[in-house]
Amino acid sequence: MTSPLTVKGSERFKVKGLHGKISLPSDKSITHRAILLAAISSGESVIRAREIGRDNLRTLKIIEQLGAKCTARFPAAGLALAREEGIESATLAPDNFVELRIIGQGLTGLRESAADLYCGNSGTTARLLLGVLSGCPFRSTLTGDPSLSRRPFARLTTVLRKMGAQFSADTLPLTVNGGELSGIEFHSPVASAQLKSAVLLAGLSSRDATSVHEPHRSRDHTERMLVAMGVSLVEQSTIQGWRVSLPMTSAPRTLRPLQLTIPGDFSAAAFIIVAATIIAGSDVEIEDVGMNETRSALLAILRRMGAEIETANIRHVGGETVGSIRVRSAKLHGTTVTAAEVAATIDELPILSVAASVASGSTEILQAGELRLKESDRLTGMRDLLRRYGASAELRGDDLIVTRGTPASKAPGELANFPLDHRMVMTQAILELFHHGSLAVSDTAAVETSFPSFVECFRQLIG
Ligand code: S3P
Repeated sequence: MTSPLTVKGSERFKVKGLHGKISLPSDKSITHRAILLAAISSGESVIRAREIGRDNLRTLKIIEQLGAKCTARFPAAGLALAREEGIESATLAPDNFVELRIIGQGLTGLRESAADLYCGNSGTTARLLLGVLSGCPFRSTLTGDPSLSRRPFARLTTVLRKMGAQFSADTLPLTVNGGELSGIEFHSPVASAQLKSAVLLAGLSSRDATSVHEPHRSRDHTERMLVAMGVSLVEQSTIQGWRVSLPMTSAPRTLRPLQLTIPGDFSAAAFIIVAATIIAGSDVEIEDVGMNETRSALLAILRRMGAEIETANIRHVGGETVGSIRVRSAKLHGTTVTAAEVAATIDELPILSVAASVASGSTEILQAGELRLKESDRLTGMRDLLRRYGASAELRGDDLIVTRGTPASKAPGELANFPLDHRMVMTQAILELFHHGSLAVSDTAAVETSFPSFVECFRQLIG
């Protein structure tokens, strides 16, 4: 996904702050899980969501290919995207919500797809799916776009092989041959929710116990959803970090169907939270945002840096914490982001680095090597991007040190010319907005991955 130099839809504004109330696309991580778990549940799930992006549509398309029966209603803009992604059941919704009705086939009821399962840009789709398919007695071939085809799967395939599944390769395209699995006590070298979730999903199909240990607690949406669907799980903090277990069971596990309204995506909110903090004169409220405690560490980090962020109307919906966030502009100072915080802000680090680049003093982001394995090498990308906007950014091993510099005097619209992914494109758009007052997105297709209405949303806030 290379960024073209041409700027599509670039607009210049005299930005006098961001203002207004806004709702966001539905949480991408929760939506993937809801679709996939609904497909292996026993009964009909009803999932309501605001806008969903291409990554989630790919998961939906794949469960249809695997035999789950779906009806899907989308608001007009989303309907066009869904049709592009080949969602055959897509029709127009009567309101502004996406509604997915999925008839689950049970843990053993999915069937082989004649066609390959195309995961596009979505690592979460591919990894969670491999967990499920490892326990299914048929062959499936997963493919992806060039970015996903470069990303490593060996950490996961190594564990799933030990559980009994077979794989043709450790990168996409790969064929998985699933079947009866045994449980595992897996010590993960990294805090990764994709890895943890995939192993737990594979463990569901076995009556054995399956445990995952991680060095820091990664996002726990899978665990919360499984509990809401009636699966028994044990979670505990350990000397080494965190452990999640599916206890042994005497009868096959079953999942109750879901009735769920998905909260707004905290990772999408992060772009607005940082933009409103650094753009003087801003006062923004974001409604119905997911504030799962394993996802929202960005708020504590920004507050530590001096940000003015208030949360309100906190409630629990379908096992997830939801609330609204009000952000007013503030002067920031640097901080140290620890390895545990890195795990809890993994997708927000690119936009956090923008806050660091305008803060007084230096910010250190420690042990952020996992960022090299995302849709692009975000660690190098962040360093290079911040330098283009005049900040000083250094990599010492996997630590990133950012210090405010002399603001770039470049003309607006001179966007970066290196591989960018959806979060990096939006990160750059916020840098452009802050430094040049332009709303410029270098790759509109990339943004559709997770936040199709990104430009629309900022147009609204700019007023
Ligand atoms: C995700 C987990 C994270 C995150 C990704 C979504 C998930 O990846 O970066 O965007 O939904 O489980 P890792 O588990 O690889 O850290």
